Amino acid sequence: MIQRQKGCHDIYGREAKVWKYIDQVIDALMEKYNYTYMRTPIFEATELFHRGVGETTDIVTKESYDFEDKGGRKITLRPEGTAGIVRAYIENKMYGDPNQPVKVYYNGTMYRYERPQSGRDRELTQFGMEILGSDDPFSDAEIISAAVNLYKMLGLKEIKVNLNSLGDNASREAYRKALVEYFKPHIKDFCEDCQERLEKNPLRILDCKVDQENEILKNAPKTLDYLNEESRDRFEKVQEFLDIMQIDYSINPNIVRGLDYYNHTVFEIEAKVEGFGSNNVLGGGGRYNGLVNQLDGPETPCVGFATGIGRLAMAIELEQVKLPIVEDIDLFLLYVNDDEKKYAAYLAQELRLAGFIVDTEYTGRGLKAQFKQADRLNAKFTCVLNSEDLNNNEVHIKNNQTKEEDIISLDVLIYYLDEKINAGMAEDFMEGECECGHHHGEEHECCGHGHCHHEEE
Ligand code: HAM
Repeated sequence: MIQRQKGCHDIYGREAKVWKYIDQVIDALMEKYNYTYMRTPIFEATELFHRGVGETTDIVTKESYDFEDKGGRKITLRPEGTAGIVRAYIENKMYGDPNQPVKVYYNGTMYRYERPQSGRDRELTQFGMEILGSDDPFSDAEIISAAVNLYKMLGLKEIKVNLNSLGDNASREAYRKALVEYFKPHIKDFCEDCQERLEKNPLRILDCKVDQENEILKNAPKTLDYLNEESRDRFEKVQEFLDIMQIDYSINPNIVRGLDYYNHTVFEIEAKVEGFGSNNVLGGGGRYNGLVNQLDGPETPCVGFATGIGRLAMAIELEQVKLPIVEDIDLFLLYVNDDEKKYAAYLAQELRLAGFIVDTEYTGRGLKAQFKQADRLNAKFTCVLNSEDLNNNEVHIKNNQTKEEDIISLDVLIYYLDEKINAGMAEDFMEGECECGHHHGEEHECCGHGHCHHEEE
């Protein structure tokens, strides 16, 4: 048997419904914040990630899925979304769009060759949002507020925003020097990777997965002590906007992030859910004012955030959030002979077009087994299509919970179900004007209701 690759998942059943629900909430949230959806390719030139994410980051040195295509091009499966968005922003000259800043979001698969464990996958799905073309601390706060609101809308209560600032280039450089000085005498006690990182990128030592518990590392200098006045002012303004928006956060100087493009604001959001384990960071992001320029575009200040959908789905399940996920169907159509089966095909088509969730029999089971299937699917109603009823232009329809049964003319089946299942809608419908604007009593075919409810009754 061929098995799926390590660190990849098959998402189906209830889990798939949770994922789809998360996607719907994301789309609704992004509409409110006025971000537009953007899709970029899953593979890009390898160089994009080397120059964009950083030559010395784990993501590029150890975790990247690189290959050469048949034309000899060096290709990488994207490990994250920001570099591709920035490449597309430059290539499509989106900086010239009169509508500024550019506010976009994406939701797609990324690939990181990591050691698979719970919450750490090789194929992962990220929702991310980016503002390109604003240096205003208000936009940093907007990104953080949108992330928090997403988690709240999905019912997560225990979340924690960890906020930090790396400062501008001058502050970062001062901090870098301080770290090199600090680590130099102790570097022999660190892992090989960290020894290499000391000169190339000492910030990466701070989020080393191997040396995390090393006391030297824990007591290392903090970014905030190296911010110049301008960077400090800026950081305070971000906090002021977060306060205005009533977003709770904690200043956490240990947040430095695993990607190289950040300056000023950086943040990570944790889920404080029991059972989550060490990979409890739901999402993270920050400001990256240098990246567009570094990738040959014009100087463009940007800020963004991304969250892993898998981790999010896990947090929702662990917190036992009740999601409004449809786990039942409106009607199950049962039948025995061929004529009834053909009628089931016709009726299922009609009712589905009228908006009902309808299922029926496809495997040749007897009536008893069909009723069992209707129960398994949590059918609200069942309807046995027997030839005698159909000849009389009627059906027996049973409420599968109360077991009450009605005999209904086939002409009014849609209205019957509408009233029983969508009680509110049915009432509105009876009150005067149909949803399409026609008056009840008036013959019309535009909306699928055909004609007036009162008239039918
Ligand atoms: P990141 O922190 O590398 O940031 O990833 C963001 C989120 O993606 C993580 O917090 C986590 O939920 C999820 N994630 C990352 N790696 C894995 C994995 N191996 N398995 C499961 N989930 C994972 C970025 O990617 C930046 N591009 C965020 C950003 C956008 N910064 C500015 N704009």
